[in-house]
Amino acid sequence: IHITWDETLAEKSGYDHFMEKEINEQPQSIKSALSGRIKNNVPNLVELENIKNFIKNDLKKIYIVACGTSYHAGLSMVYLLNAYSDLDINIEVASEFRYMNPHVDKNTLVIAVSQSGETIDTLEGIRIAKEKGAHILSMSNVVGSTIPRESNSVVYMNTGPEIGVAATKTYTAQIAILYLISAQILFYREQYSTEIKNIVSKLEKIDEIFEEVLTTKEHIKEISRQYVNYKNMMYVGRGFGYTAALEGALKLKEISYINATAYQAGELKHGPIALLDEAFPVFAIIPFNGLKEKMISNIMEIKARKARVIALTSSEDERIKEIVDDYILVPNIEEALLPLAVAPITQLFSYNISILRHLDPDKPRNLAKSVTVE
Ligand code: G6P
Repeated sequence: IHITWDETLAEKSGYDHFMEKEINEQPQSIKSALSGRIKNNVPNLVELENIKNFIKNDLKKIYIVACGTSYHAGLSMVYLLNAYSDLDINIEVASEFRYMNPHVDKNTLVIAVSQSGETIDTLEGIRIAKEKGAHILSMSNVVGSTIPRESNSVVYMNTGPEIGVAATKTYTAQIAILYLISAQILFYREQYSTEIKNIVSKLEKIDEIFEEVLTTKEHIKEISRQYVNYKNMMYVGRGFGYTAALEGALKLKEISYINATAYQAGELKHGPIALLDEAFPVFAIIPFNGLKEKMISNIMEIKARKARVIALTSSEDERIKEIVDDYILVPNIEEALLPLAVAPITQLFSYNISILRHLDPDKPRNLAKSVTVE
């Protein structure tokens, strides 16, 4: 595979920051990541052909290894394969995986997700897995980087360079490609259900969803102003919305230095709710499926502690509007695609707050784009 990056991609093209540009270019970057990779609602990831027989006949377990944002993208794949297959799927943060004696063997596919392809913990993780006989499939945005070079198969993200330290467009590309990898695996194993086919066909048009989500830009800016001066913020979600909550909280802490954490909404009562009061707002990602009602009860418990609440939902709902302080509507899509639809919103929210706090979102303190030392 040969990728040539257009020079204009490494310029700000009229935007104040690379992060802002990279958030806004997601309709194009996702298109480029998926280009040629779906044919007639079926995945066409030629990069997996060399392990087709292994996937079909020998695969017993999948293990995802990643750090930071890449880990959050991986977690969405875990939710996807749990929901739509009987495959045994595991995930671990690379710095833990490499020291935990992971249970992988010749029947395991280890998927290393690394935007840079150079993260040392992820690299050491795959070296250990390889020694134990596992097949290594990596996904990276940097052609020829170390992790792909040491893998059996590689899927490049093809999103163009990402300059902002905080991952944005590469995160959404990672989710989309991990979903395609999941679909390809199920296709090879003759377990390609109509549900998965439907997700793949919706994925193919996800750029249109991004366009639509990005039209809420001004509204998000207005909402962001209300949250600039808080010291803490909690993100809550369930299922796919929980993975979106984790990434939302990470983005906020990375570039605004607000102490942001994420919890599964059902865990609130086991500790985190003790933190909440009028000084501790909550960003609630409301599930679209049957768990919506449970989330509404969670929000009522949060409101009883007087915490300010932003609710993100997919359908006009007067009950939710009445109880929350801020309300964001996203297009009504498949539950599995929720982390994709939410991403531009939580990214913009964090970006706005960073700017309003007079910080530089492109160069957050103490963080590096690529972490090559332990
Ligand atoms: C650093 C970056 C994060 C990134 C993580 C993993 O901490 O600041 O944005 O998610 O590394 O990087 P990778 O290149 O392996 O995806």
